[in-house]
Amino acid sequence: MNIRAVRGTKDIFNDDAIKYNYITEIAKRIFENFNYNRIITPIFEETALFKRGIGEGTDIVEKEMYTFLDKGERSITLRPEGTASVVRAYLEHKIYGNEEITKWYYYGPMFRYERPQAGRYREFNQLGVEVLGSKNPKIDAEVIYMGYKLLEKIGISDLRVEINSVGGKETRLKYRKDLLKYLKDKKENLCNDCQTRYEKNPLRVLDCKVEKCKEIVKKAPILTEYLSEKEKKHYEEVKRLLNIYNIPFSENPKLVRGLDYYSNIVFEVITEKLGAQGTVLAGGRYDGLISTMGGKDTPAVGFAAGIERIMLLMNEKKTKKNRIGIVWLGEESSDYALLLANELRVNNFDVYMEYEKKSLRAQMKKIDKINAKYAIIVGEEEVKENKLVVKNLKTGEQIKIKRDTICEYMKGEINEI
Ligand code: HAM
Repeated sequence: MNIRAVRGTKDIFNDDAIKYNYITEIAKRIFENFNYNRIITPIFEETALFKRGIGEGTDIVEKEMYTFLDKGERSITLRPEGTASVVRAYLEHKIYGNEEITKWYYYGPMFRYERPQAGRYREFNQLGVEVLGSKNPKIDAEVIYMGYKLLEKIGISDLRVEINSVGGKETRLKYRKDLLKYLKDKKENLCNDCQTRYEKNPLRVLDCKVEKCKEIVKKAPILTEYLSEKEKKHYEEVKRLLNIYNIPFSENPKLVRGLDYYSNIVFEVITEKLGAQGTVLAGGRYDGLISTMGGKDTPAVGFAAGIERIMLLMNEKKTKKNRIGIVWLGEESSDYALLLANELRVNNFDVYMEYEKKSLRAQMKKIDKINAKYAIIVGEEEVKENKLVVKNLKTGEQIKIKRDTICEYMKGEINEI
């Protein structure tokens, strides 16, 4: 068979699947600690949702959506991100009527027709959070804190948090006017993309990565100087709280995001280690989106992180919790070992055991390969005595214990199950 995975997609298995699980498990724990509930939205939606939600002039909507007509002639799009769907669900189920603040998290595949390269795929996975119903800066800070802690806990270092405020609609309109004025006679010197941005989405010129555009933008008017008193106060309070949380961050007045729905706080967590795909996690406030989608004016904030990008940054191989390997010797101990393995599994231990009869050496080699922490050896003599030999594979220490005390004993040894 010479059919291969489609360009920009990949299979996640073995070591990478262990990493994927590890990331989502840590994320889930942190989000649940902060009282977020999981939401699972459909992988595809009506195309209009993303057009309206993300914005017609954005790269995602203009160039990157997987859009097709289904057999009923409906225009369907594979979701390129999670926020628009979350807002749709919030409105569709009238969640606003039931609770003051809604805190949701999600993870799963997203689809964008981009040029694939390291850290950039056409099908990729995001994990994210969305908080709807509060404009309290405590939420902005909480969301940034959770994102940062998540990456820190996974063991990723050398991260930079950048933050900015792009203000509300009025502020941006005022700024846009002045920015266009400033860029007008420099337009010819901008890169091709920025010449289009000049017409459609001039704020995006600010964070263009092309050297000549960067040079031009250096002297451009500064967005934060256009913030209203209220917007300034909100921004100041978020920064104060981040300091309380002890999150290192820097302000980047040129940080604007590629989706139209943002207002006020925007942020990115960036690494230098992934070249051009250095943004690991990104988000911000989108106070205007819910009303754009037909709801009541409702403030909201959230982020999403690229799971594959996090995986690329995890240099250390993650091992499965497969912590106990059972070695069985001789036909007589086969059933005995089987019941022992099941008892340990019921008690939440991860247990590895061979199906075929193999030598002690072969079994120990395999147990070592899967990084088990303990080996339990069941031989003829042990079955007769109703005892087990437990070997700590790290220290090499070995003891013999009574069969019916095994779970208690292992719980004492492995406290993290
Ligand atoms: P975004 O910046 O488009 O924001 O994507 C968030 C993250 O998803 C990126 O920082 C990156 O790590 C990852 N990502 C994006 N595209 C790709 C790709 N083609 N391949 C691999 N990873 C990718 C959003 O999606 C917003 N919905 C975030 C948000 C949530 N804002 C408020 N709430």
